[in-house]
Parts: sequence; structure tokens; C-alpha cells
Amino acid sequence: LTVVTRPDRRHRDHGRLHLLLVASGAIGLVLAGALVGGLVLLSGTVSTAATKQHFFVTHRLLDVGLEYSVRDAAEGLKAPALDDPALVARGLACYDRHCAQCHGAPGVAPGPAARGMLPIPSNLAQSAREWPPEWLYVVTRKGVRMTGMPAWEFRLSNADLWATVAFVEALPTVSAAQYAAHTNSDPGAECEQRQSLPTTSGESGPTLLRQYACDACHVIEGVVGPQSYAGPPLRDWGRRAYIAGVLPNTPENLVRWIREPQRISPGTLMPDLDVPADHARAMAQFLFAQAPPLPDPGGAT
Ligand code: HEC
Ligand code: HEC
Repeated sequence: LTVVTRPDRRHRDHGRLHLLLVASGAIGLVLAGALVGGLVLLSGTVSTAATKQHFFVTHRLLDVGLEYSVRDAAEGLKAPALDDPALVARGLACYDRHCAQCHGAPGVAPGPAARGMLPIPSNLAQSAREWPPEWLYVVTRKGVRMTGMPAWEFRLSNADLWATVAFVEALPTVSAAQYAAHTNSDPGAECEQRQSLPTTSGESGPTLLRQYACDACHVIEGVVGPQSYAGPPLRDWGRRAYIAGVLPNTPENLVRWIREPQRISPGTLMPDLDVPADHARAMAQFLFAQAPPLPDPGGAT
């Protein structure tokens, strides 16, 4: 019996050894790749200049990636009726105020900042021809990472997002003269902006802090962003005694500070950022949760 099983086992051990060798070879390759990648990055030969065009393949790959991601995100969405002329007119107002500076409009060139961007914000008449309105809505609402396309959901109400999409859908048929006539008559007046934002209590703290540009100036515990010390770092927040040296640190006072720093401390470098009350409350709650106040030692006074 032993004579029969022995070669069998040897065969099995052999298989295992083979697998181990292949696995360590693969890991070795990945590590070597990472090392070479790291060295190339540190050598400075990878250009980050916006004047240097992407490789053709890179650009195509990004386009395809965007398309599949948007298709997935739009699944189950159903656009409302978008052909109401009043809706399209309101969409034009929103487009003129928020989109034309980058994407241009019939007879209107993209602004100077947009012309220096890579990738270039494309002409949306083409997107309107190729994409269903649900996809346009998803991109407009959520933005596109690492392209410069902003997310608009914290700056446009849901109704205005759909109105903008209604206008983009109409873009291929709008003439330069029609566009000029509309914008001259009432520029931007009908786009409501943030006053009509729904109260989104479910929004996470880090998303809100980033969507109101807080991390442009503050390093914030729990938020990935630039290492910027233009404002004080917001770490161990609950253990602070004062806010900006002027208000006792309570959740209510923090909400007040976030909403109107200029009124509380006139001339402070922190700007008013139009934060609605519920968003400020969610931010305050998040900051306090990162470092709850130390327990009161009690007793001695
Ligand atoms: C700061 C510049 C900027 C602003 C403002 C901006 N966009 Fe964009 N947008 C971009 C860039 C960059 C891209 C990515 C390149 C591309 O695909 O056009 C993009 C992509 C898009 C796309 C996908 C186009 C496609 O076919 O790939 C849509 C749709 C879009 N933007 C809609 C809008 C709308 C609607 C607004 C206004 C509410 C707007 N954008 C405002 C820069 C901007
Ligand atoms: C343009 C830069 C800038 C932006 C954007 C900004 N802040 Fe500030 N912030 C500052 C500066 C500067 C101070 C210090 C103000 C002072 O002491 O007068 C400050 C102070 C604060 C403080 C008090 C810090 C302390 O140590 O007492 C808090 C809290 C705060 N900011 C939260 C926020 C939140 C939340 C946002 C986003 C809604 C935000 N900031 C956006 C620059 C900024």
C-alpha cells in the first residue's frame, strides 16, 4: 500500500511547489512594476503640464471608462418630460450662468480658463446627440473626477439640474441668434440656485466638507485633501475650547461660524461659503465625532 501512495503524494507536492513558484513570480513582477513606476515618477520625466496632449489611447480609454461608469450610474433613472419650453428656457439660464464658460454655447466661445484645460470641455451639442438625457443628468449632477468637470448637485436644485439637461438636449437645434436673444433678455435670472436645494440630511460629513471647499484651506481629520494650512488644521475638534479664538466651542456655535464667519469675525480670512443650516449641522456633527470632548474630570473646581 505504502508503495502505491508514495509517488501519488510526491506528484501532489510537485503541483504545490509549481503553484508557489508561479505565485511568487507574479508577486515579484508586480513589485518590480511598482518599483519602476515609482522611479519614473520620482525622476520627474512624467509631464503634468496641461499643454501636453494625452496619448491617443489614454484619451480613448478615459472616454470609454466615463461612458460605462455613467451608464451604470444612470441605470433605473427615468427623465421627466423635457420638452416644455418654460423648462428649456430655465435650463438656458442655468446653462448660461454655470456651463457656457467651459463648454461654450451657440455662437459663444468657451472662456479663457476653459481653453487652457486638459481635457478640453467638449461641445455638448455632440453629447446631446450621443447620450440619453439620464446620462447627461448623472454627469451634470455628479461631475467627472480628474477632468475638471464639477459636480453640480450642491449648487443646483434637482429641478434646475433637469432643466439644464432639457436645454442641453435642445442644444443641437439652437441657433446663435436664438441663444443671444434669450441671454440678452434676462441673463441668468431664472436659474434659482441654492436657495431651493433640498435638505439632504443623509449627506456624509466628508462629502459636504469637500463640496463647500473647506479642504482647500484646512487639513481635516477624516477627509482626504490637499495639505493646506491656509486655515488652522481641524483635528481633535471636540477638544478645542474656542472657535477661531472668538466663540466658545459648542456644536451650535460651530454651525454659526461655518455659516457666517464674516459676520462673527469681520475681516477674517475665512470666507462665507453659502452653507445652508442642515449642511452646516452635518459638518459640525462630523467634526465633533472625530474627537469627542474629553470626559469632564469632575470634582475639583
Ligand atoms: C470648469 C469647467 C466646466 C464647467 C463649468 C462645466 N463643465 Fe462639463 N465638463 C468639463 C470637462 C473638463 C469635461 C470632460 C471633458 C468632456 O468630456 O467634455 C466635462 C464633461 C461634461 C459632460 C460629458 C460630455 C461628454 O460627452 O463626455 C457633460 C454632459 C457636461 N460636462 C455637462 C456640463 C453642464 C450641464 C455644466 C453646467 C451645469 C457643465 N458641464 C459645467 C468642464 C466643465
Ligand atoms: C479660503 C480659505 C478657507 C476656507 C475655504 C474655509 N476656511 Fe475655515 N478658516 C480659514 C481661516 C483663515 C481660519 C482662521 C480664522 C480666524 O482665526 O479668524 C478658519 C477658521 C475655521 C475654523 C475655526 C478653527 C479654529 O482653530 O478655531 C473652523 C471650524 C473652520 N474654519 C471651518 C471651516 C469649514 C467647515 C469650511 C467649509 C465650509 C471652511 N472652514 C472653509 C480659512 C478657510
